[in-house]
Amino acid sequence: MKDKFGREISYLRISVTQRCNLNCVYCGKGDCAKKAAELPPEGYYKIAKAFARCGIQKIRVTGGEPLVRQDVCEIIRLLRSIPQIETLALTTNGVYLGQTAQALKDAGLDSVNISLDSTDGSTYRRLTGADVLEKVLAGIDEAERVGLSPVKINAVLMKGVNSDGAGQLIALAKERDIDVRFIELMPFSDEGEDRSLIVTGEEILAQFPFLRPVPGENSTAKYYAADGFRGRVGLINSVSHKFCADCNRVRLLCDGKVKPCLGQDAAYDLMPFLNSEEQLEETIKTIIRNKPAGHSFETKGAAHGLNRTGG
Ligand code: 5AD
Repeated sequence: MKDKFGREISYLRISVTQRCNLNCVYCGKGDCAKKAAELPPEGYYKIAKAFARCGIQKIRVTGGEPLVRQDVCEIIRLLRSIPQIETLALTTNGVYLGQTAQALKDAGLDSVNISLDSTDGSTYRRLTGADVLEKVLAGIDEAERVGLSPVKINAVLMKGVNSDGAGQLIALAKERDIDVRFIELMPFSDEGEDRSLIVTGEEILAQFPFLRPVPGENSTAKYYAADGFRGRVGLINSVSHKFCADCNRVRLLCDGKVKPCLGQDAAYDLMPFLNSEEQLEETIKTIIRNKPAGHSFETKGAAHGLNRTGG
């Protein structure tokens, strides 16, 4: 269905937990162990079915880190059984992916996005607080092996922190059938200090001039490649070139609240309507219709770290 600005809303992101086994500097402001209420798999299923009746065709499961939930495969299995859902994807930091990729695939998951901000062990540890780079790399291998494709890597570059490792990340897209996407750092405070760390998509292109535009399937990432590349390099310029006018998504938080815009505080509780399919659907329609025009990251930080919303 369309919102009041005429945008077709077809993509639901479901955060199934706020917990995370990493503590990335740009994400959770150190509260990754915080426990918000989490719904049982059936809760997300009921809500997702109502969203599907309102036109949602793609679901991405995120967190927090979704694989910290023991029942994540059950969540995937239930979401997969919704006939309108054409694409079912998951975003993970990859630490537990080596051990769960096959089960996720068997449960009906189509593809995974894996967060990897550096291929250097000590930089990875500094960014995430954990010495688990090898596990993540093994997780990427396993995702490819079991056919959770396309495997995409998400990287956030920060000046003077990990930006010198961009070339090694791009090398993954050259050597493997993997898309490596650079997401511009979204500020999570109003003070300017994190803004000076942003590496824009334009700066990446200037540094790697051999990258040439190639076709991509959506409007959030612009894709690039060069001769001999097996995968692609994606640039998600959400801060320097916001794509709110083409936004097709809404977010469900782990406790049953809907957040219609990542860059706005507002969230609407669906829990009071969980036992009425009709009320659930009506409430979702009202929320979608009134989705805000867009974020204002250029002047204002977001209210919550992505540990809450999963991006
Ligand atoms: N800015 C940009 N991307 C972020 N992510 C987490 N926090 C931020 C931020 N402040 C990314 C994660 C993950 C994706 C869902 O969002 O690295 O890959």
